[in-house]
Amino acid sequence: MIGVFDSGHGGLTVLGALLQRFSGQTFVYLGDHGNAPYGNRPADEVIDLTRRSCETLFGLGCRLVVLACNTATCVAARPLQREWLPVSPYAGTHNVLGIAAPTVEAATQTPWGVTTPQYPQKYNSDVIAVFGTTRTITSGVYPEEIRKRCPRITVVQQACPDLAGAIEAGRPEAELDRIVAKAVAALDAQTGGEPPHRAILGCTHYPLVEHLFRRHLPRFTRLLSQPDVVADSLEDYLARHPRYAGSTNSAPHLRLLTTGDSEEVSRIAHIFMPDAPAFERGVVV
Ligand code: DGL
Repeated sequence: MIGVFDSGHGGLTVLGALLQRFSGQTFVYLGDHGNAPYGNRPADEVIDLTRRSCETLFGLGCRLVVLACNTATCVAARPLQREWLPVSPYAGTHNVLGIAAPTVEAATQTPWGVTTPQYPQKYNSDVIAVFGTTRTITSGVYPEEIRKRCPRITVVQQACPDLAGAIEAGRPEAELDRIVAKAVAALDAQTGGEPPHRAILGCTHYPLVEHLFRRHLPRFTRLLSQPDVVADSLEDYLARHPRYAGSTNSAPHLRLLTTGDSEEVSRIAHIFMPDAPAFERGVVV
């Protein structure tokens, strides 16, 4: 049984790709809608909320939790993996995976374990744009990890503070379009109009408005799709760590939990995942 966590609905975009890829696997999704959005919260709050959600998913029987949230990943994955897990009752038996690692691997074509520039990536001088929440952008995780592996890549970042909340609230398309257009224009102002070769939509809500980024970014800018990248990476991880894959004899199952109002959350979930089952109310420990 694998846990998938996001502050709200965004992680459903990743869950959708995981369900397609792992047809025999059981997933439990937890959206911390009661505390969302995380994107403008102080780092210590994001760490605390993410840890409590991981404990809840562990308590339900998940031994592996995928943080399907860039904000939680960029702010909390390292402290949880390095400081909390090793001294917790889950040490050695449970794990937490973030989604920055597979995204950086895909952006740099370099395995996560390799942290020095390798030929030919050493000479890669692309411009990569990163769009995300304020907290993801201020964490600096994407530029830091990309530059370690590809020092000549220029990483330009643009926070979109209102976008995840507007998507989550089901705001009209025209309003979302204006927010995306403004973010792309702000990126342009930073780069002096030099168009990015690639763009990381570094928030799991953004695949829902990928067509709007596509509309406003130059045609040749390649968009990096996090849901697919995360599914590829989890497939590789489970092949190397089969103990986290769980039993494949039992029937696959999907449970969706929320710390928010389950009726309201279930109603909005259909925008993210048309055939989503109803959310149950889950209490974070
Ligand atoms: N979906 C989350 C992410 O990927 C952000 C939403 C929020 O601000 O809570 O960063």
